[in-house]
Amino acid sequence: MQQEQFILPESVTVRDPQGNRYVIEGVLGKGEFGAVYLVRERGEKHNLFALKEVINPNKGDRERFAFEGEVLKRLNHKALPRVHRVFENDKLKRVYLLMDYIKGRNLEVLRREQPGKCFSLPLVLVLMAPIVDALMYLHTQDPPIVHRDIKPANIIVPVGGGEAMLADFGSAKEYVPGTATTIIDRRSPGYAAPEQYRTGTNPSTDIYGLGATLYVLLTGSAPIDAPSRVIGSLNAGVDPLTPANLLKPTVPLAVAQALQRALSINMADRFETVEEFWQVFMDHGTQQIPQITSIDLSQPSPPEPDIEDSGPESPQKEQIAPHAKKRDALRIFAGFLVIVVIGIACFSYLRGFTVLLLCCLGVLLLSLGALLHDFSSRARTL
Ligand SMILES: Nc1ncnc2c1ncn2[C@@H]1O[C@H](COP(=O)(O)OP(=O)(O)O)[C@@H](O)[C@H]1O
Ligand SMILES: [Mg+2]
Repeated sequence: MQQEQFILPESVTVRDPQGNRYVIEGVLGKGEFGAVYLVRERGEKHNLFALKEVINPNKGDRERFAFEGEVLKRLNHKALPRVHRVFENDKLKRVYLLMDYIKGRNLEVLRREQPGKCFSLPLVLVLMAPIVDALMYLHTQDPPIVHRDIKPANIIVPVGGGEAMLADFGSAKEYVPGTATTIIDRRSPGYAAPEQYRTGTNPSTDIYGLGATLYVLLTGSAPIDAPSRVIGSLNAGVDPLTPANLLKPTVPLAVAQALQRALSINMADRFETVEEFWQVFMDHGTQQIPQITSIDLSQPSPPEPDIEDSGPESPQKEQIAPHAKKRDALRIFAGFLVIVVIGIACFSYLRGFTVLLLCCLGVLLLSLGALLHDFSSRARTL
């Protein structure tokens, strides 16, 4: 909450140690640690970037950020945004990561706009194919890189039907077998695997996150969080995770079973690799696939505030409603005025009050003009 006040307003300039200056044009997303801004390089009208910040970083934040920058700088995959530099601004007490701007919206925002807040299976397969490819690429690095925060809010779908991209490497770690992670980082409830509440994550942690992401995209509900599942399984002997096909009967049984396996509480029960998981998913999922090769879901132009997973529903629709109400009230008032003025005009005519009669005629003409204008603009909109 406190950081909310520290979000930098538009037109503020952030300077890097080399003297390059970036002018803030808007906010792309707000997170726990700071914001992600859309910025324009000063003097380079067409150079747009995404600038991610951490406010008041401590040693751990600095390391995490430097790692996020380093990881992304050395990776080269079409579904991963290119990172240009990581720098610190002492005056603002913030660290920054400058990366390519992906003009689009995140999959959580898009999902919430869909009827039933979910997508069809063929669409999910097309949307997620580049992300799955990026995960396979990460897991085959030496040492493998575990993203550890796979969820719809970290997937950006470009406008114009481009392929989805995977963002937010703020939780990523290199996985060296035999070494357990000692620090427990931030977690996204519903998407974080049980081991993320303890220590010892590995590539199968991403299989859980991927399973949870596919689950919410297909059903419209995020899986119940891992600690509740563990407690439920221990106390009642039953895993409280509802199979996807029971939430959405259109999800084929085999797909629901693959999701259930990817979301196993025990790492050993999950698929061995992302590839193996995706293969099963595809084998059963593609039976329903018509020829979809590209998609264009996102039309409203960014930047728009980020919606995180448990955040409130989009306020956009609510903003339209008060305007409509105001116009209706004005219409009723104008109609009422016309009736009253006609009454007074008749009275003036009968009594011979010429001045009052002329005033009434003036008001009458104005009200009728306003009403006619309103009706014609309404007809144009329709
Ligand atoms: N390179 C980018 N281009 C466009 N939008 C981005 C970019 N990176 C992040 N965003 C937007 O900002 C949001 C938050 O970014 P993210 O890296 O996930 O930060 P956090 O660590 O706060 O979750 C994302 O959900 C996405 O909507
Ligand atoms: Mg994020």
